[in-house]
Amino acid sequence: MIRVIAPARPQAPPVDLLWPTRAQVLSDDRVRADVHRVVSSGSAVRSTEVDRAGSDDWLHDILDRGARLALARLAGRVEALGRWERYETRADQCNGHIRQVMTHPDARRRGLARSVVHALVDDARAAGVQTLTLHVRGANQAAVALYTSLGFGAVGGDRYDRVLFALRLGAGPDAAGDRTESKG
Ligand SMILES: CC(C)(COP(=O)(O)OP(=O)(O)OC[C@H]1O[C@@H](n2cnc3c(N)ncnc32)[C@H](O)[C@@H]1OP(=O)(O)O)[C@@H](O)C(=O)NCCC(=O)NCCS
Repeated sequence: MIRVIAPARPQAPPVDLLWPTRAQVLSDDRVRADVHRVVSSGSAVRSTEVDRAGSDDWLHDILDRGARLALARLAGRVEALGRWERYETRADQCNGHIRQVMTHPDARRRGLARSVVHALVDDARAAGVQTLTLHVRGANQAAVALYTSLGFGAVGGDRYDRVLFALRLGAGPDAAGDRTESKG
């Protein structure tokens, strides 16, 4: 499904969001190559360098697990991505966790990550998720500013390198008092 959204900045090329299925990923080498270009530009997928086979495996694995992956394309090329998925344990499946939001270094500060996270939040809300969480390094000022600007707030975490942020989307326990299980 492709949803065209407003340009990230005045006079910027339009951003479109793609929610690929596993079948689409398997049949579209361009998308897989684009995703590899983004994930290999940083260390947000694995702590070591990611080769093309590694990023393909990662893509298939997360789509097999039912994660909702949003790809943001600028002028037709994937430049940013992120995903959310439900908590695994049955008691916590009303909650979701955002992981691996990233933008290629050449495309940063154009509103792409904001578009991705906004779309993840809308998608999770539409799926009935009550609270969305994510972990961020306390020193990652860009990510902290991004999530804070979208309404997420720090709700705890005993490690500065792994701060839990949450956004309450619907009815249910108050996010601030709801220390849900760690998703890593
Ligand atoms: C964090 C990251 C995803 C931001 O991507 P981006 O596409 O450049 O972000 P956006 O252009 O959508 O910025 C949205 C807001 O985030 C904040 N922000 C983004 N980059 C920032 C920076 N370098 N310094 C301070 N604030 C920043 C700003 O509030 C910005 O809004 P503004 O441009 O109107 O001021 C990107 O820097 C990245 O990929 N970093 C490496 C991976 C990572 O850390 N991911 C987060 C894991 S939790």
